[in-house]
Order: sequence, then C-alpha cells, then structure tokens
Amino acid sequence: MRQAKITIVGAGNVGASAANIAATRDLGDIVLVDVVEGVPQGKALDMMAMRPIAGVSRDIRGTNSYDETAESDVVVMTAGLARQPGMSRDDLLAKNAEIVKSVSMEIVKRSPAAVLIMVTNPLDVMCYVAMKASGLPRERLFGQAGVLDSARMRCFIAMELGVSVEDVSACVLGGHGDSMVPLIHYTYAGGIPVEKLIPADRLHAIVARTRNAGGEIVSLLKTGSAYYSPAAAAIAMVEAVLRDKKRILPCATYLDGEYGIRGLFVGVPVILGASGVERILDVDLTGEEKSALQASADHVRQVMSRLKL
Ligand code: NAI
Ligand code: 2OP
Repeated sequence: MRQAKITIVGAGNVGASAANIAATRDLGDIVLVDVVEGVPQGKALDMMAMRPIAGVSRDIRGTNSYDETAESDVVVMTAGLARQPGMSRDDLLAKNAEIVKSVSMEIVKRSPAAVLIMVTNPLDVMCYVAMKASGLPRERLFGQAGVLDSARMRCFIAMELGVSVEDVSACVLGGHGDSMVPLIHYTYAGGIPVEKLIPADRLHAIVARTRNAGGEIVSLLKTGSAYYSPAAAAIAMVEAVLRDKKRILPCATYLDGEYGIRGLFVGVPVILGASGVERILDVDLTGEEKSALQASADHVRQVMSRLKL
C-alpha cells in the first residue's frame, strides 16, 4: 500500500520539530528539504534512529533536492527567516517572499496535486505569494496561524482557571499578527462560556497575552521564535487532511467575499479534510468582532501592498 508522503520545506526549528511530530504519529513518509547542506540529512537520520524507540516505521529522508519531494500529498512550508528580538513578523516580508515564491514553484512542478500548508511569516501575505507562484486553488493552499493562536488562548485560559486545556475551546480569527481577533463569545471551558467564569479585566489580559504570545517567546529566546507549538499546530492540520478528519480549525484562507473580505488570506474557521479546505464557515460575528476582523484584514492588505504583487 502506498504511504502518504509529507514534504516539509525548511529543516530549521519549526520544520524539524514538525517532522519529529509527524514521525512519532506515523502519519506518512517524510521528506525534509533545506538549502543548507547536511542539516536536513543529519536531522532526518537522527529521526530515523528514533523510530525503533518510538515504535514507528515510516521513512524520513533529508535532502537539498526538490526531486525527492515528487508526488507529495501534503507539503508544509517553513522555509525562510524567523523573527529576532525587535522584529515584527512583517519585517520578514521581502526576503521570505523571494524564498516562498521560488520554493512554491519547485514544489508544484513535482507535486501538482498536493495540499500546501504555509507557515512562513508574515503568514497571510506569504500564503498569497505562494498562491500566485503555484497557481494552486484555495482549497489546497492555506496557512497555519489560528490553530496556534487559539491553542495559546486555550492554554492561558486553562492556566487562569486551573483546569485541563482539553476542556477549553477557543477561536482566534484574523491575520497572524497583533491585530488577530480572539473571539471571547465563542470561548468555552467545559461547555460554559468563559465570560461566566473569568472576570472581564482578566479576560482582557488573556486576550492581550494571546496577541503578544509570539513576541513574548521571541524576547525570552533572543535568537528566534516559537517552534514547538507552531510545529504541533501545522501537523494537526496535516493530520486533518491525511486522515480526512473534517476538523473545524481556524486557517488562513483566501476569502472571496466571505466575511465581507475579498482577495486576500485571513484566518477564518474552515472544515479541513482530505480535499483541504472543504468549506469556509461564515459565522455571525458581533459588530465589534466584525470591525476587528476588517481592521485585521486591512493590516494584511497594507503589508501586501508593500510587495507590489
Ligand atoms: P529557522 O531559521 O529555524 O528555519 C528556517 C529554515 O529555512 C532554515 O533551516 C533555512 O536554512 C531554511 N531555508 C531558508 N531558505 C530556504 C530555501 N530557499 N529553501 C529551503 N529552505 C530554506 O526558522 P523557524 O523558527 O523554523 O521559522 C521558520 C518560519 O516560520 C519563519 O518565517 C517564522 O517566522 C515562521 N513561523 C511562523 C509561525 C506561524 O504560526 N505561522 C510560527 C513560528 C514561526
Ligand atoms: C509566532 O507566533 C513567530 O509567528 C510566530 O510565534
């Protein structure tokens, strides 16, 4: 039986961690690609040796050549520069756009039927760059941001309440930046609206911490940005596709009028299954949430305009 094939481009912090999670979940054969000679090969060999201990058996290959990515089912794009202290995600724009453009063309040439999941920042704009370069339809090209941002919010709420993260659900929409839109009205702990459990001032502090969670980690690490949780988030999306899970997840998706937004990628709830984005859930927002989502989309549009796409 043919195994699913997962390509991860970029063998740095996020890419290698993503490969590690995909390997330990036995999701499929993995190809890890990077421009730096030796790094993808060394990390792949290390993970190959992990398999007998982890009790998994799929192949993990490191390479500098795109030929080995041919006929991938899912590709995760993490190639590019990461944030350093003092840098916003948007500061990565021009350099990462060049990388994403060339990598997307290499990928689609060899895997025209693949689902491409973007991680490289600034995320929403890099999705657009990849779409332009690859010509992939919106169902098969989308970005990871909301799964991570929602997980961060779930984590901070669980910490506040002293309860299991398993029982907290949250939904963070919008662009992957300071203007992201955490939806408090759609946030529950054990099925109870969190507004009934946490005072408003504490909830506002949690929202602010969620917005700044990436920056908080950058300032602690000093030499890069978060990677364990971003990698886990990307692999949750890969798993939803490969196992046709029909999960409802917030993903950066190309909008064509949904939520009153057209012509750009913004995080919204979607159903993720074997075909990728199978449906966009256009849910009712309050007036305040609608304006916050529009403002977030405006920010994405403004960053896009700096690239002259
Ligand atoms: P990293 O610096 O550890 O790894 C990036 C890797 O990309 C490096 O190994 C580099 O050699 C490789 N690379 C550069 N140009 C390449 C090319 N043309 N082809 C193949 N590989 C290439 O960075 P890290 O921490 O893994 O972050 C990767 C990207 O993901 C960054 O842009 C970062 O901002 C973004 N990110 C996005 C998140 C999200 O939620 N969307 C969360 C965390 C990071
Ligand atoms: C994060 O949110 C840097 O986008 C990355 O951690």
